[in-house]
Amino acid sequence: TMYQKGVKNMYDNGIEHVPVKYILPAAERPNANAANSVPEVNLELPVIDLAELQGPNRSQVLESLAYACQNFGFFQLVNHGISEEVTSNMVDVGKRFFEMPFAEREKYMSADMSSPVRYGTSFNQTNDGVFCWRDFLKLVCHPLPDVLPLWPTSPLDFRQLGVTYAKETRSLFMMVVEAILESLGLKTDTDKKTEKYEDVDEVVGIKNEIENGSQLMVVNCYPACPQPDLTLGMPPHSDYGFLTLLLQDDVKGLQIQHRNKWVTVQPIPGSFVVNVGDHLEIFSNGRYKSVLHRVLVNSTKHRISVASLHSLPFTSTVRPSPKLITHTNPRLYKDTNFADFVAYLKTCDSKKKNFLESRK
Ligand code: SIN
Ligand code: FE2
Repeated sequence: TMYQKGVKNMYDNGIEHVPVKYILPAAERPNANAANSVPEVNLELPVIDLAELQGPNRSQVLESLAYACQNFGFFQLVNHGISEEVTSNMVDVGKRFFEMPFAEREKYMSADMSSPVRYGTSFNQTNDGVFCWRDFLKLVCHPLPDVLPLWPTSPLDFRQLGVTYAKETRSLFMMVVEAILESLGLKTDTDKKTEKYEDVDEVVGIKNEIENGSQLMVVNCYPACPQPDLTLGMPPHSDYGFLTLLLQDDVKGLQIQHRNKWVTVQPIPGSFVVNVGDHLEIFSNGRYKSVLHRVLVNSTKHRISVASLHSLPFTSTVRPSPKLITHTNPRLYKDTNFADFVAYLKTCDSKKKNFLESRK
């Protein structure tokens, strides 16, 4: 059907009304429940300055980081060291990918959810009852030498720009994780003579897992939509991995749930929106929150975003850090293996899990 060809294709064909397939039940539309979910609330997300983290104010920045992860599950990351050239090139090449003729994009369509490269539409186009206003390209990024030969060859500079971006976001992720571990009170210095020497083993262990963890990049395309009040670019969901680094262009659309309201994230050009995933929530024994978010579309502007989703290896045990289980903070989650964790998440309907489908 035409829906399987995605929303960019419909937009290009000059569609004037949202087809029934995309119309959400009234209670799930962007402006539903005005009483408890006031739309378009503007509230600034905490901003974390990564450069400042390296300086004399490190402990204050770590406190702000902890505050952001506890109270918002989200923060904006500025001065992160990835150049404006690298971020704008990535958004630009993503945009150019979706501007190619459908026949060119279609080559990357796959019904196989575990395919390392997959072009698609909606959230999960084989299961979604109501479709959402989004096309996407998902790319497995790790280990890069194994997957790169499968990445798109057009636009011609796609691989080159995508690889640079994937590598730089991966190192940035490591830096942010290091800070997050420290903000949880897990010492990261490897001097085993310190009195907290057990923490060091704990941190070395998790850092090892993180280094071997998976990385998935999702380029999202949300074309302008003739009736944006009837549909969503992405339904409410939380990310199941450890941490997500999101790059967005200058068009707003992302909203996060904060104190029972949908709050719009104002784009800061060149910055990353970073959010806590379910696995980090569990690892932190509930201290840091994996928060629901969704995407609105609008009637005039296309929007591009690039999400880099970072997760621990499939062999990891999903569990709260033993150091974060105390008398005052009793254990909130049982230990489980990754497969059971994933199976459990699939049973959670209301919190659709991002990128689970590609990790079967
Ligand atoms: C996502 O939740 O993965 C995408 C968010 C966005 O496009 O802003
Ligand atoms: Fe997400």
